[in-house]
Amino acid sequence: MNGSASKKGSRNVVEKMDELEKNCVIFYGSQTGTAEDYASRLAKEGHARFGLNTMTADLEDYDFENLDTFPDDKIAFFVMATYGEGEPTDNAVEFWEFINSDPPSFSGAGSEEKPLENLKFVAFGLGNNTYEHYNLMVRNLDKILTKLGAKRIGDAGEGDDGAGTMEEDFLTWKEPMWAALAKEMGLEEREAIYEPVFAVEERPDLSAEDDTVYLGEPNKNHLEASQKGPYNAHNPFIAPIADSKELFTVKDRNCLHMEIDVSGSGLSYTTGDHIAVWPTNAGMEVDRFVKTFGLEDKRHTVITLKGLDPTAKVPFPTPTTYDAAVRYHMEICAPVSRQFLSTLAAFAPNETAKKEMARLGSDADYFKEKVATQMLNVSQAVAAVSSEPWSAVPFSALVEGLTKLQPRYYSISSSSLVQPDKISITAVVESIRIPGAGHIVKGVTTNYLLALKQKQNGDPEPSPHGLTYSITGPRNKYDGIHVPVHVRHSNFKLPSNPSKPIIMVGPGTGVAPFRGFVQERAEQAKKGEEVGTTVLFYGCRRSSEDWLYKSEWDEYKQALGDKLIIFNAFSREGPKKVYVQHHIKENGKLINDLLQQKANFYVCGDAAHMAREVNEVLGQIIAEERGVDAAKAEQVVKSMRSSGVYQEDVWS
Ligand code: 2AM
Repeated sequence: MNGSASKKGSRNVVEKMDELEKNCVIFYGSQTGTAEDYASRLAKEGHARFGLNTMTADLEDYDFENLDTFPDDKIAFFVMATYGEGEPTDNAVEFWEFINSDPPSFSGAGSEEKPLENLKFVAFGLGNNTYEHYNLMVRNLDKILTKLGAKRIGDAGEGDDGAGTMEEDFLTWKEPMWAALAKEMGLEEREAIYEPVFAVEERPDLSAEDDTVYLGEPNKNHLEASQKGPYNAHNPFIAPIADSKELFTVKDRNCLHMEIDVSGSGLSYTTGDHIAVWPTNAGMEVDRFVKTFGLEDKRHTVITLKGLDPTAKVPFPTPTTYDAAVRYHMEICAPVSRQFLSTLAAFAPNETAKKEMARLGSDADYFKEKVATQMLNVSQAVAAVSSEPWSAVPFSALVEGLTKLQPRYYSISSSSLVQPDKISITAVVESIRIPGAGHIVKGVTTNYLLALKQKQNGDPEPSPHGLTYSITGPRNKYDGIHVPVHVRHSNFKLPSNPSKPIIMVGPGTGVAPFRGFVQERAEQAKKGEEVGTTVLFYGCRRSSEDWLYKSEWDEYKQALGDKLIIFNAFSREGPKKVYVQHHIKENGKLINDLLQQKANFYVCGDAAHMAREVNEVLGQIIAEERGVDAAKAEQVVKSMRSSGVYQEDVWS
């Protein structure tokens, strides 16, 4: 193949595989990086255990007209996340539209009836069972490809983030899948050996002081120039923090309010959007990691990473240092996976440790007892097996085995009408005490935000649980009063006509977008616009403890008068728990009347319990108030969802 043909063919996966001599492609539809991560793991495992020549492929990077020329001695994997209300991830939108067109316009190589009769595929979906359209993407993909004549190998796997079993679902699914694939393709399993995807080279010729060396800067622009837009998921804006305070502090539970200044950045938002925060790992965790893996003495050594295969994407810019790679780019605090422990077993510092690691890697119950229930991260798990430094672990194995540190999304709690250049965040700082474990698991990003708040306010450096954050970078950008952010637009929106009524349900920090909604309507009322009835169901533990924006609601009430109706459920003030759904139930008539006046119904917060229960109660109200049976009421709620009357912004 000559150069130009290969260029032209670069969006044709069949040509690309020929060019790179691959016989297995693993496509991923990924939003937050998890599906991409599973795709990489499958690619590595397929090569290490079965000698497949694998490549991963972002669905966005290819066209699919030529899928009907896919040869039957090769295999295509699809690792597909379902996003939000059963939607494809952003990078899978075009593929999804193509494959769903009726019929898709293939090149014509296959038969008209069964254009994909040569295609063999493997499918795994990532979903969340607290959403209505659980794993819709993989289920539909499986149906469509099969209808087009393709042959699925093994079962279509489904991982459930809602139940927290994603990793185990994946591990359980893949063994029989590999067996089926080996049989189909006549593959022999071999003794798996670690084969690096990246080459890590230490660079004594460079120093961490050099201005060509990345120390947390996410891309070239940030390194070389002052930052430049457009700002997006690949290029954050390092924003000044205009204001930060604690909304409440009770024992070790507190809630932050931050105002992020995006003026002059070109970033814009509308009320109900999300802001992404790019976190930095806690200093204490970085220290633990470099110590565990024997990198302490050379943490500031400059390294470069190169993909050993043209399809391997280096997950962060280099040259950088070990320290910066770990601090800014690697998810070192997440609970470690069982599979990763089994990969690390080969590099254990002694035989006993090697055996123990192999057992943890292969025995799911033992792993659960020793590692999973305590939510140990990789350094904690490894150090518990042997406290000797694990210096034999190649750094490439750590980069490949751990997820890339991802931005975290928060529902914006301000109105873009009131403060277009200042984005508010409302976040509870997460710390989970593990019973009997002697350690506390701390949320990476909320604790990062807390550290920024403390720094900005000049609080005495209280490192509440021994955490110290090194948020002061050498180049003045991560100086502790700036935070890297971008905006993600959402469909969680106020009706465009402000005179329409709305009903909002948001206990806890679920109230965040509704503070924005109410702020916006109060402003509209002040300007003399007609504003519809605005009902908020809010819940927290106690009126004296964690009532968010307690004094602000009175201000909004002044502007909105009796258009604003707030029901507060203080769950721990009486002898029995009172939750938002109890108040919703008691006000069935009001809710039904408003719905009949074309009110929108919004729910924000915990997906697993609250949002589900609210959905149920709404069905009961509709049944009672409209005199219909439960099945019909459920139908009504469903159609409210599909028509956008019932909107959710929920998380688990
Ligand atoms: P609790 O912690 O006293 O049980 C914000 O977190 C509020 O949501 C708290 O008052 C909390 O009550 C409440 N909450 C907990 N579980 C809930 C559920 N399933 N539905 C609605 N609210 C819930």
